[in-house]
Amino acid sequence: MMNALIATRANKCLRSDVLAGLSLRRKRLPSKYFYDAVGSRLFDRITDLPEYYPTRTEIGIMHANAGAISERCGSRCLLIELGAGSATKVRILLDRLDRAAGYVPVDVSGEHLRAAAATLAADYPYLDIVPVVADFTTRFAVPERPSRRRVVYFPGSTIGNFDPPEADALLRRIAHLVGEGGGLLLGVDLRKDPEVLERAYNDAAGVTAAFNRNLLVRINRELGADFDVQAFRHVAYYNREESRIEMHLVSDSEQQATVGSTTFDFRAGESIHTENSYKYDVAELAVRAGACGLRLDDTWTDARGYFAVLHFTATPTA
Ligand code: AVJ
Repeated sequence: MMNALIATRANKCLRSDVLAGLSLRRKRLPSKYFYDAVGSRLFDRITDLPEYYPTRTEIGIMHANAGAISERCGSRCLLIELGAGSATKVRILLDRLDRAAGYVPVDVSGEHLRAAAATLAADYPYLDIVPVVADFTTRFAVPERPSRRRVVYFPGSTIGNFDPPEADALLRRIAHLVGEGGGLLLGVDLRKDPEVLERAYNDAAGVTAAFNRNLLVRINRELGADFDVQAFRHVAYYNREESRIEMHLVSDSEQQATVGSTTFDFRAGESIHTENSYKYDVAELAVRAGACGLRLDDTWTDARGYFAVLHFTATPTA
């Protein structure tokens, strides 16, 4: 069963975010804009790359612990997935959950979400699927459904894209969204050998480079800009001080690009910082989440300790 799509203001903010980010002394573009139709498809290809371990590691953890994880979620829970994308991992849960009260996939990429929801509906005919096209970093309405418990499913280490203050703000909003006793099932990429990390973001086939550059392709198309996309190099490295992978687009030469009526200058070697992907330590995260109203009550990980799936319960708010 699939309900009508609930659409909220999609990406009205692309233009203002791009103009603001490129006006900074250290140029930046928000990573959430990677996921247009092409970018979402490129990301799906990244998840299949031999170097990109997170997706298959997380899926392995979900399969190995599906029973325990589903039990934690409890019977008749309403699953709300943030950044649902292709909604493939959630199947592992849906296959084991005791009478899910509904599934609410939330994603900015409307096209991708629609397709994913339709595919899912064909395989889970009894399930009440309520896709919500929204930027989950802004306020969005969660459809009311009778359930025993709300559980936010936030897999894929998407939380890694948020700087610590924003990640904390998001955790607080999740705690509020699910309410006291509600749950958060969170997938996080863990700190590890920087060589393993850097390989995952510098694949031999160049898919991550194409994903990074597609941000400029999108800006050219949607904002009528004139970036010479091939004149920007994909650079990704681990920043140890900040425990994060940084992705950049580095200008090969001195050049200009125009967005609407604004022209931006680039020095040779100047970068546009396009993404942060924070890597977590479970104990540290448990303390931070605790301060945001989420108590860590279960941790599942893989043999190498590359990735973790965590379950939190929302604590009473003071
Ligand atoms: C979807 C944010 C988890 O940070 O690993 C993959 C995005 N960027 N390769 C990540 C991404 C480059 C991915 N997340």
